[in-house]
Amino acid sequence: MRLCYNRIERGKKVSYFITFEGADGCGKTTQLNNISKMLTDMNIENVTTREPGATPLGVELRKILLHYEGPVADECETFLYLADRAQHVQNFIKPSLKEGKIVLCDRYTDSTVAYQGYGRGVSVEKLNYLNDIATNSFKPDLTIVFDVDSETAQTRVGKEKDRLESEGIEFYKKIRFGYLKMAENEPDRIKVVDASKSIDEVFEQTKAIILGFLNK
Ligand code: TYD
Repeated sequence: MRLCYNRIERGKKVSYFITFEGADGCGKTTQLNNISKMLTDMNIENVTTREPGATPLGVELRKILLHYEGPVADECETFLYLADRAQHVQNFIKPSLKEGKIVLCDRYTDSTVAYQGYGRGVSVEKLNYLNDIATNSFKPDLTIVFDVDSETAQTRVGKEKDRLESEGIEFYKKIRFGYLKMAENEPDRIKVVDASKSIDEVFEQTKAIILGFLNK
């Protein structure tokens, strides 16, 4: 049975919260924009957003998270992402769903578990609890993980690397492992796409998942 946390019906409108996940360089943002265009062409109202940095407060947090040059404690990094998320859920995601839009979100709670948990080594169990506090247990209806081997992903990241992208390949291998583990644990919500393929092929896989979900 499909989990469906946020089904909000307004007249004929049904809104869902769909998240796009994967390590840097996996190509999820391109696919998120393609899916948004596809839904718009189908006359389905949708909105795109991202973490960190979708709200005015979040823009400030994003600057620190991606460009602060001094040392950053893993727990400090964790709380900054969670603070951004709390603001985002309350001020953007839930209001957009209430307006009857499908929300397509570039990264959410699973990024914290993958990066700060599997990547940095913060306790995954504690992160699940903290994510619940930050979001008031608000979960995505559907999550797509774009999976690609870490070497290929690294070649797709531009030369101008931010603080996270400057981490070594071992960090990215842990993140990939984390995402695949989460998908294994929550197969109803998390679907994995083979993102090593061409943009068109990845789009076909993504489209099939989204349309399959919407038509159920
Ligand atoms: P961004 O430039 O938005 O990268 P991408 O296009 O790959 O999403 O930078 C966001 C960075 O923040 C990215 O390296 C992943 C990281 N991140 C975390 O470590 N934890 C989190 O909870 C989130 C939301 C992002």
